[in-house]
Amino acid sequence: MDVTKAVIPAAGFGTRFLPVTKAQPKEMMPVLDRPTIQYVVEEAVEAGIDDILIITGRGKQAIERHFDKSYELEEALEKDGKIDRLDRVQEIADLADIHYVRQKERDGLGDAVMYARKHVGDQPFALLLGDTIIESDTTCTESLISAAEEHESSVLSLERVPWEDVPSYGVADLGGEESTGGSFPVEDFVEKPPQEEAPSNLAITGRYVLTPEIFDRLEQTERGVGGELQLTDAIRELEDVRGVELKGDRYDIGNIPSWLQANIEMALKHDDGEMNEAVEALLQEQVE
Ligand code: UTP
Repeated sequence: MDVTKAVIPAAGFGTRFLPVTKAQPKEMMPVLDRPTIQYVVEEAVEAGIDDILIITGRGKQAIERHFDKSYELEEALEKDGKIDRLDRVQEIADLADIHYVRQKERDGLGDAVMYARKHVGDQPFALLLGDTIIESDTTCTESLISAAEEHESSVLSLERVPWEDVPSYGVADLGGEESTGGSFPVEDFVEKPPQEEAPSNLAITGRYVLTPEIFDRLEQTERGVGGELQLTDAIRELEDVRGVELKGDRYDIGNIPSWLQANIEMALKHDDGEMNEAVEALLQEQVE
């Protein structure tokens, strides 16, 4: 089993971020110097994938423009001798072969994934949510691909979240077994359980490797929460699903507090000389 393609759904409305997202895709929200979706594409590329399908929708043209070549800008930067910046702009367009398909209506993550069927065909594929940045030493997608290739099964990234946060997530049921350092079998998933009924605090994080069997399962899946086609409902019907515990930091930039957190933590973490010093000084000022 060889994972060579990635799918990035980016067709949501981003209502938790309105009005910013009225005319601009949530996935284009900047975190430091890059739009969120660029980090996601870079993660896929680092995992060895160079064929990426982005699921877009109405009002998402900025995503396509971002990954396009920008001849005028490149010419101007070259003329002005701004070679560093020119390199950074050119790198974006050269990252991977990026394809697009439009989800006709925002109808749930499961529905968005269905649009990948033609492009993906009969192959397993990586799925990365376009509004979630994951930073880890070995990319999360790379760890999932290794486990999927080893066990010939679908694999999800799972993160231990505080128990009180469990009702906001889909969580894994390991059937009474413990998670291990590598990948481990998952018996079932429960969507947004009350804390006292949750089978674990291992939450689905927005990174998956799925076998093509998922498309048939999605076709047979009834609409779930919110009247939408839920990906988790279809994953529950897969033959064989494994989990890998995330080792790293996850930032879901879908709401303002966690978007701010992503900017602050990443600015402090990335040793970019002046920038992290400036942010540290700024925060110091606020607490004094
Ligand atoms: P969310 O669940 O955060 O939904 O989607 P949303 O519509 O973007 O945001 P809110 O809840 O209205 O604030 C998670 C990811 O799945 C994509 C989104 O673009 C996001 O990257 N998605 C979601 C789709 O592509 N299509 C859908 O129908 C739903």
